[in-house]
Amino acid sequence: MTGSRILALGHYQPSRVVTNDDIAQFVETNDEWIRDRVGIVSRRIAGDETVADMAAAAAGKALANAGLTAADIDLVVVATCTAVDRSPNVACRVAAKLGITAPGAFDINTACSGFAYALGTVDHAIRAGASRNALVIGVEKLSDFTDWTDRSTCIIFADGAGAAVVTAAAEDEPAGVGPVVWGSVPDKGDAVRIEGWRPYVKQEGQTVFRWATTALAPLALKACEQAGVAPSELAAFVPHQANTRIIDGIAKRLGIPDAIIAKDIVESGNTSAASIPLALSKLVERREVPSGAPVLLFGFGGGLTYAGQVVRCP
Ligand code: UT7
Repeated sequence: MTGSRILALGHYQPSRVVTNDDIAQFVETNDEWIRDRVGIVSRRIAGDETVADMAAAAAGKALANAGLTAADIDLVVVATCTAVDRSPNVACRVAAKLGITAPGAFDINTACSGFAYALGTVDHAIRAGASRNALVIGVEKLSDFTDWTDRSTCIIFADGAGAAVVTAAAEDEPAGVGPVVWGSVPDKGDAVRIEGWRPYVKQEGQTVFRWATTALAPLALKACEQAGVAPSELAAFVPHQANTRIIDGIAKRLGIPDAIIAKDIVESGNTSAASIPLALSKLVERREVPSGAPVLLFGFGGGLTYAGQVVRCP
């Protein structure tokens, strides 16, 4: 049972940039409030692109960056909570778009923690011998589920996709995907919701904020401990991009003053399951983290759910 490692990443964002001033044209808000309270300066909002279009675009780039072809992929797992179609799932749509002919293909919905759940699941599949080369994708088109008259949510959510090619590690190679620490707080399920018909994102922001800034740091430290990595060794921390104040609050409690702290939220908004692979892909593309360096991923959100693991940078 060999472990797995991330071979390469890719990401996709719609071309349309929406600034805080743009949003202040149609709801009562302002640039200063959004920067201070959430940390967002601008976000990307999709046009005609579907969730599957964005996922396939990110996955295609990850495949190319990995030097693999569609024929090499035997498993496609997509984390999303914004697929409009009930069937086929997004993973099958992505496989069809990329010409991956017979992969295992399924979607995971744990909202904003989805990518870390999907990566943990794929790591387990590879360890069990059920896959050799997999695509793990986080993608959201939250603009389809946003009430654009509600200033408490429409300033936050955005669209995009990030993808990783995950491969079996060699026998003599240390695992590049550490043990996943995952869990949930079901009795706080009403704190983030996309429910009913027609569904819009609703959240009790302060409930989630308090939970995220108090409960998550010990769980993130557990992921480090299970990977055998001291927090001081981390090259980077890539949490779900929900709020820069939450990111700073968790990072402070982890005690990682020298690590790079991903804050892609500033220019990308909150893209739920896409936020971690999007931020990680950009760090790797900009060569900010050396290959092989340990990076802590930690997702949290609707459910409430959380998941995280330490990965080695491709
Ligand atoms: O990714 C999914 C998981 N979700 C999260 O992690 C979200 C976690 N929560 C948060 O990030 C923050 O709670 C928010 C950014 C959602 C809200 O920030 P807050 O500091 O908790 O603000 P608040 O909801 O307590 O609202 C404070 C004030 C209120 O006015 P009053 O009642 O004090 O007069 C709001 O009506 O700010 C008002 N407000 C706004 N003002 C200007 C709410 N939204 C806005 C806005 N512009 N867009």
